[in-house]
Amino acid sequence: MKGLLEMAVIAVLGFGLIGLAMLLAIRPVMELLGVIRRIANGDYRPVILTGRSNFLRDASNNLRLIAEMLARQKILLAEEEFSLSMILESMTEGVVITGSDLKIRLVNKAAASMFNLKGVTEGLLLHEVFMSHELLGVAQRAVGTGEVQQGELTFGIPGRGERCHLVVTAAALKAPSMELPDGLLLVLYDVTRLRELEAVRREFVANVTHEFRTPLSVINGYLETLGEKGVSREMQRKSIAIMQRHGERLNRLIDDLLTISRMEERGLRLETAPTDIGRLLREVIQQLEGQIAERGAQVALKMPEVLPHVDVEGYRIEQAFSNLLANALRHGALTGGEITITAIREGPDLAIRFRDNGPGIPLQDQPHLFERFYRVGGDRARQTGGTGLGLSIVKNIVTAHGGRVTLESSPGEGSTFTIFLPVIFLHD
Ligand SMILES: Nc1ncnc2c1ncn2[C@@H]1O[C@H](COP(=O)(O)OP(=O)(O)OP(=O)(O)O)[C@@H](O)[C@H]1O
Ligand SMILES: [Mg+2]
Repeated sequence: MKGLLEMAVIAVLGFGLIGLAMLLAIRPVMELLGVIRRIANGDYRPVILTGRSNFLRDASNNLRLIAEMLARQKILLAEEEFSLSMILESMTEGVVITGSDLKIRLVNKAAASMFNLKGVTEGLLLHEVFMSHELLGVAQRAVGTGEVQQGELTFGIPGRGERCHLVVTAAALKAPSMELPDGLLLVLYDVTRLRELEAVRREFVANVTHEFRTPLSVINGYLETLGEKGVSREMQRKSIAIMQRHGERLNRLIDDLLTISRMEERGLRLETAPTDIGRLLREVIQQLEGQIAERGAQVALKMPEVLPHVDVEGYRIEQAFSNLLANALRHGALTGGEITITAIREGPDLAIRFRDNGPGIPLQDQPHLFERFYRVGGDRARQTGGTGLGLSIVKNIVTAHGGRVTLESSPGEGSTFTIFLPVIFLHD
């Protein structure tokens, strides 16, 4: 009996010791498994294992290396992602990335602003967000052919009422190992300003051509007449006078165009000097005396005895004054024209006003009046003989001097054009 009991105690102790030994052996393995699980879950904190066996020390060292490498990769990836998103967000070009199913993965800030997009767009279909047939067409062609495609879209931006022109380039994204594209990269360039400038240039060329053609065809017509036999002396005299007038008009047109192009030159340096504006105004009135008398108009010049000098290129500013006075005479009242010119200091500027009692300028024309070739009433106004460049020259000259020109006019109540020039030399 006693023997049996002893055997039982020995067996229990034996199993207990084996169990303990197994527990001691398993604990580091469990610890190892725990660390592997932690790394698998993306936690790359330093690996410290307490096991002492060679196998465990080896495994622990390797795991530590793996964890450190993964941690470094994670930082690198985050940095790359950060720079990529910084680049995408600071680009002026719009960037849209989609899957090959054209579901949106990314829209950068510029693209969102071009289309006035608000809210989440990721996961939606390209055409649901951008609602442009052209854009969808370019995208589909790129995915279908696997080649870079380009197109141009013109659309009105919802809620902004502006028309926008975009050039879109679409490139399929395909890893070298893959046969079919995995996604699509769309780059959008805003070419609105460029297209507007092209339109202005086209219009300018058309206008110049038209303005040149009229006097040239008149001159050619009279030259033909003069070439015929038996033209009377009276007819010859009349033809030459008309050709001369149109020749002068061509000359004026060329002068005006040269003035505009010179004033629009970048970095144009004016040869300025402190100038007495009162003297310039008196000279301009004198120069136009013939036209004033012809029109039977009254021109009054009102200004204080002492005016601050301004730093200007006298010859140019005189041209601006002359254009405004000529306009008041030509487009002002047909009879009983009263023109008042005033010069007065207003804050940091010298304000020079040309007021007439003419028909005034319709409200709808006022915003365009300083544009090149713009004339109220379009072609009908051509009978006044002007080229429509006068006010655009005034604006160019005044702007080049750091000043501005404004217009106040109510139809039927005359017009007031004011040139503001910054005062530099003060007399007070
Ligand atoms: N004082 C004014 N009163 C009424 N309309 C004016 C006045 N000044 C200008 N306008 C209108 O503005 C248009 C543009 O003027 P602008 O001086 O640019 O051209 P223009 O006088 O027709 O030709 P030019 O190139 O010979 O000056 C004129 O055709 C005229 O219709
Ligand atoms: Mg004019």
